[in-house]
Amino acid sequence: MTIRSFTPPPRILMGPGPSNVHPRVLAALGAPTIGHLDPEFIRMMDEVKALLQYAFQTQNALTLPVSAPGSAGMETCFVNLVEPGDKVIVCRNGVFGGRMYENVVRTGGVPMTVDDPWGRPVDPQKLEDALKANPDARLVAFVHAETSTGAGSDVATLVAIAHRYGCLAIVDTVTGLGGSPLKVDEWGVDAVYAGTQKCLSCVPGLAPVSFNEAAMARIKRRTRPVQSWFLDLNLVMGYWGSGAKRVYHHTAPVNALYALHEALLMLQEEGLEHAWARHRYHHRALRAGLEALGIRFVVDEPYRLPQLNAVYVPEGVDDVQVRRRLLAEYNLEIGAGLGEFAGKAWRIGLMGNTCREENVRLCLRALDAVLAEAGVNPNPGTAEEAAQAVYTGARL
Ligand SMILES: Cc1ncc(COP(=O)(O)O)c(C=O)c1O
Repeated sequence: MTIRSFTPPPRILMGPGPSNVHPRVLAALGAPTIGHLDPEFIRMMDEVKALLQYAFQTQNALTLPVSAPGSAGMETCFVNLVEPGDKVIVCRNGVFGGRMYENVVRTGGVPMTVDDPWGRPVDPQKLEDALKANPDARLVAFVHAETSTGAGSDVATLVAIAHRYGCLAIVDTVTGLGGSPLKVDEWGVDAVYAGTQKCLSCVPGLAPVSFNEAAMARIKRRTRPVQSWFLDLNLVMGYWGSGAKRVYHHTAPVNALYALHEALLMLQEEGLEHAWARHRYHHRALRAGLEALGIRFVVDEPYRLPQLNAVYVPEGVDDVQVRRRLLAEYNLEIGAGLGEFAGKAWRIGLMGNTCREENVRLCLRALDAVLAEAGVNPNPGTAEEAAQAVYTGARL
């Protein structure tokens, strides 16, 4: 077997992530590697921190990218904040709430669940009931933007309820950050984690996290050391903390951090509010086109995430076959259903740099044609026009 250099095909990534990485970010990634303790690199790290604080809308000093994917951001929150025996209320309305549950179990915590049906947001009343029934609970954990279902939950309300019952709140915003409003300080979020490969449109493999004073105090008061050496924030802070004296903890992914710096800079240049509005704007056009094809959304309108459009696979359609054709003939990736929705739903991502008019149009044209050829398109040739009407009627 002769192995040659790998050249990826030119895909349009409209699945649940990763999204398409902007050429500026790819160029940053390809810059020469320097030492991870080089003064110039450390200066850039400080900028990454400041840019992350902007993205999260926080002044939290403990704001940094963990050197591993979103799942490591999740683990960082749980291993640092949960001690054996701690009761944690975990809200589950999709796959990722389920993973939070697993994290609590593995850290020796005692998970109590608040379950909502897939496709629904977390119900604040159910959370309140659970907290009343468990006055010894110490933490509440939930997902801002459930990538498995496309449902967004009300972070401000859920955090306020958690605080009323003396709990800290851990929030997963892997799919939320940069795509949907999130105001960490204003809403009082105690611990939050994200990913780089969704609405930030950076390369996958880093997990921005942020912890407020209350969360830091909880970590400092721990009676046992954090069981994970790599994710122990007390140690990580020796490298990422402020001040000139940084000590080696692990070799930082230098080039990935150049890329994150550039992606966050692009977000700042665009402006967060504009990025949130852009996701809503193109979502409206995509929705009009999908509805013209008779495609139904999984999530009720007020709770839909603009960046993750979960729709039912139309009756009589071969899910796998359609996705295969989109990939082979249009270089277009859309996501399969996950968990309960496997084979029943598609997840069409409009994240970050992928969230553009030309991609909305491509997706609609491609689906329109493929469904028409499969004989399951009630209105062939109408999807792009429906999106066009939205684009003509409203400016971003
Ligand atoms: C809501 C949510 N949480 C956590 C993760 C895990 O992130 P990663 O795949 O980067 O480890 C994902 C990934 O899709 C996600 O969507």
